[in-house]
Amino acid sequence: MQYNFDEIIDRRNTGSIKWHYSDDTIPLWVADMDFKAAEPILNAVEQVAQHGILGYTKPTEALYESIIKWHGSRYDLSLDKDNILFSPGVVPSLALMMKVFTEVGDAVLVNDPIYTPFMTKAQQNNRTLVTSALKEVEGKYHLDLNDIEAKIIEHKVKLYLLCNPHNPGGRVWTRDELEALLLLCKKHEVAIVSDEIHQDLTLSGHTFTPFLTLAKGYEHKVVSLTSMTKTFNVAGIKGSMIFAKDEVLLKKISQQQNLNDEYELNLFAYTVMQSAYEEGDEWLEQALAYIEKNIELTLDFLAGHLPDIKIMRPEASYLIWLDCSAYGKDDQMLYDKLRESKVELNAGIKYGAEGHLKMRLNVACPEALLREGLNRIYSALGDS
Ligand SMILES: Cc1ncc(COP(=O)(O)O)c(C=O)c1O
Repeated sequence: MQYNFDEIIDRRNTGSIKWHYSDDTIPLWVADMDFKAAEPILNAVEQVAQHGILGYTKPTEALYESIIKWHGSRYDLSLDKDNILFSPGVVPSLALMMKVFTEVGDAVLVNDPIYTPFMTKAQQNNRTLVTSALKEVEGKYHLDLNDIEAKIIEHKVKLYLLCNPHNPGGRVWTRDELEALLLLCKKHEVAIVSDEIHQDLTLSGHTFTPFLTLAKGYEHKVVSLTSMTKTFNVAGIKGSMIFAKDEVLLKKISQQQNLNDEYELNLFAYTVMQSAYEEGDEWLEQALAYIEKNIELTLDFLAGHLPDIKIMRPEASYLIWLDCSAYGKDDQMLYDKLRESKVELNAGIKYGAEGHLKMRLNVACPEALLREGLNRIYSALGDS
């Protein structure tokens, strides 16, 4: 079927985190799309409601099959049922991994800039947060392997939290980059947890490599985290997966999950996950085509109207990383100026020091909303 991504659905007063305003501000921030979910997903949810029994539920064989098939056919990641654990979210799993791989006080390395919970979950769990700045070369982030190795040695890093694809900036790390990183982590016996929640939003011309496909011989120290929530715009459903291949490691993760009884999902999460992986591909293909169009539209608009914004073209996802340093000298003032023009973006500084004077722009919304949002960005910054 043909989906209508132009449809504007009023999300105000629904408890939406994205649409939290009492006025007509346009939200181009949090990673949540303003598109209705795929029809097979909505039908599956309706079917469960119609059945009428919402009792305790466990993952079915069909659910495991759907996960195994999706990851095997798309990414050549071969999984057995035993390699898959469930978790209420990727962020809860990031926190869990601190306990699996490290002790209080141990050093955890993340890149800068990075999705904020990578930093906060390490800090809140009393680990020592160590950051390695990504190097920007010709409008693209790169891992600074020399710096990463120096930090690993200096701080005796135990765990590296990788974001693959990266958020913010949208880099899809290449196989070569990941192999080089793996070599380094192996050399210093650093565990790697790869957050792959943006995997399915890889844009044309780029290839996503699941970290686990490279980890042979080092599987006792590698975990990937992923979810259907970002891919299919069902974040309110909550639910994610943990993949690992080493039996002892899987047991350790399970034991850690058992401590707080957090290994089960709710009935709707299982339902949505299965229907998404079984029947969501048509929606995803169309959503990605729409997003790519919105990215082009945005790049054209900004190049024409605000030429001094330095734009990082995303290789995955619908989040565009903008260097606005030509248009302001203070992070808060930049953010406030946009809010005064009734458009909200994520302040880059929330993603680490490297986000200074940067903004993250979400283009996963109907084109008409995006166009109005861009006009407001222009009216906020145009005369700076
Ligand atoms: C890199 C990354 N990890 C995790 C999440 C959130 O995951 P969850 O909602 O499953 O906790 C996001 C949401 O934007 C994200 O960008």
